Order: sequence, then structure tokens, then C-alpha cells
Amino acid sequence: MSYNLLKGKKGIIFGALDERSIAWKTALRCHEEGADLVLTNAPVALRMGEINKLAEQVNAPVIGADVTNMDDIKKLFEESMKHFGGKIDFILHSIGMSVNVRKGKSYTEINYEWNQKTLDISATSLHRVLRTAWDMDALSEWASVVALTYIAAQRVFPDYNEMADAKSLLESITRSFGYYYGTKNKVRINTVSQSPTRTTAGSGVKGFDGFITYAEKMSPLGNATGEDCANYCVTLFSDLTKYVTMQNLFHDGGFSFTGVTPAVIEMMKEE
Ligand SMILES: NC(=O)c1ccc[n+]([C@@H]2O[C@H](COP(=O)([O-])OP(=O)(O)OC[C@H]3O[C@@H](n4cnc5c(N)ncnc54)[C@H](O)[C@@H]3O)[C@@H](O)[C@H]2O)c1
Repeated sequence: MSYNLLKGKKGIIFGALDERSIAWKTALRCHEEGADLVLTNAPVALRMGEINKLAEQVNAPVIGADVTNMDDIKKLFEESMKHFGGKIDFILHSIGMSVNVRKGKSYTEINYEWNQKTLDISATSLHRVLRTAWDMDALSEWASVVALTYIAAQRVFPDYNEMADAKSLLESITRSFGYYYGTKNKVRINTVSQSPTRTTAGSGVKGFDGFITYAEKMSPLGNATGEDCANYCVTLFSDLTKYVTMQNLFHDGGFSFTGVTPAVIEMMKEE
């Protein structure tokens, strides 16, 4: 169902890899709510070709950009503003990648070069995107930027590995840049801390299947789906949440504030 919440708004969606991606689902919902979109992903992801299906569905151009490359990001903003014929009203940063997890290194033995790459792709990239927009004056007043994060930034989830540090940095950049961009142009910046969700990035975490069941049983409402995350992002891009900024917003069915549940105690008894 459409409420026309984003009618006339123009947004850039980073990170739609395939139809399981949270960015993919968010692009579909933003389109349904009346937004004009530009889709972007790393050149290597574009070569998979999946994104073209989404581009057709939401009638959006696809512009490649590696988020660790400032020239790519600049070009993305230039081409997007040309396409829209003006400034940008919202951005979804839905990007994460851990090189050490991929290469099977545990947290206590990480390779620091790979760690730099992980932090750059998964966290500093938000600074790079915001800084480029700042330098080019690419965001309209009251524009909204949302980045996706995970509760491992606040509490230890051992198999989340170096991504926990990346998410802490991402949330800190959200607060710091949120201050500067809010003061300058009333731009709001938030992170959404999402339940575990079956996607390419999500499934890369060791023990994901057991963990997703645990989170389901620990959440009064159950795990939030990718579709519901998309709905939440739409509200944050809309004018109905204009004074929400510099926040980390849990979208997790209540997981973050639940100590224990009978369902989890029951699981322990079964063992
Ligand atoms: N799936 C989960 O359980 C879960 C939970 C909480 C938060 N998140 C976060 O949601 C976001 C989206 O992940 P997802 O679960 O939809 O998985 P996904 O694998 O579909 O998306 C990750 C995206 O990051 C992109 N990316 C990687 N390196 C890049 C680079 N150098 N330049 C540009 N893009 C690059 C990938 O191409 C991919 O599209 C991530 O930030 C992830 O950490 C996911």
C-alpha cells in the first residue's frame, strides 16, 4: 500500500546486490511511495547484472561507484544531480563487507591491512559520501541519510568479528556528521540497527542460522524482516520524521531491550 510519503523526493540507494538485499527492498518501497531513484553499487557487484532487474522495476539509472574511491563518489553525485535536475533528498547507505571474515580470520588474529579495508568499505565510506555531498552542496535542506547497522556495535556478538568495530565507527560518524550537517543545512543522519536478516552479507556471519533462531526467540515481536526495515527507512526519508537526527534506531522487534524470554529458557532445558 502506498501513502505517497516520498512523492517528489529524489534519492540515491547504495547496496542493492540481489533481491534479498535490504537496499533492494528499500528501493522498491521508495519507488512505491513516489520517489525518483538512482541505484549504485560497486563495479564488481554490477557485473553480476542482478541490479538491472531492479533498475527496470523502479525506473532508475544504475551508476557504478566503489565507496572507497572519492572520484567514483564525486562522479556518482554529479551524474545523479544531472539526472534529477537538482539536489538529493535522501540517501540509503546499505554497505558492509569484512575482509577478515571472508578470509576466515578470527577477531584475535585479524590482518590489519584487511581490517583497514573493512573499516573503509563499511564505515568510513559514510564519511566519504557525506563529505562529497557537503563539498558539492548536493543535499537539499531537511535531506535524510540512513545507514544500516547492527547491535554488535553496543554488545559483543563474537562471530560478528571486526564488523562490530566497523559498526561502532559507522554510528559515531553518523553522530558527528549529523551535528555538522544539521547545523549547516538541516540535513538529518541516522543509523537503523536491524535484526539479523537472510542476505548475502548477513549469511557471511559464522553460525548465522542458529543465531537468527536465537534472535527470533529473544525478540517479543520476533525478528524484523527486510521488508519491514524498508518500511522504516521510508518513514525516515519522509517529512514525518524531520527532527530525528544523530540517532541509532533499533529496528529489531524488541531484541535490544530484552533480557531473557521463556522461549530461550525452554531452549536451554532441551539441551
Ligand atoms: N543481513 C543482516 O543480518 C543485517 C543486520 C543488520 C545490519 N545489516 C547491514 O545492512 C547493510 C546491507 O546488507 P545486506 O544484509 O542487505 O547484504 P547485501 O550483501 O545484500 O548488501 C551489502 C552491499 O554492500 C555492497 N558493497 C560491498 N563493498 C562495496 C564497495 N566497495 N562499494 C560499494 N558497495 C559495496 C555490496 O555490493 C552489497 O550490495 C549492511 O550495512 C549490513 O551490515 C545487515
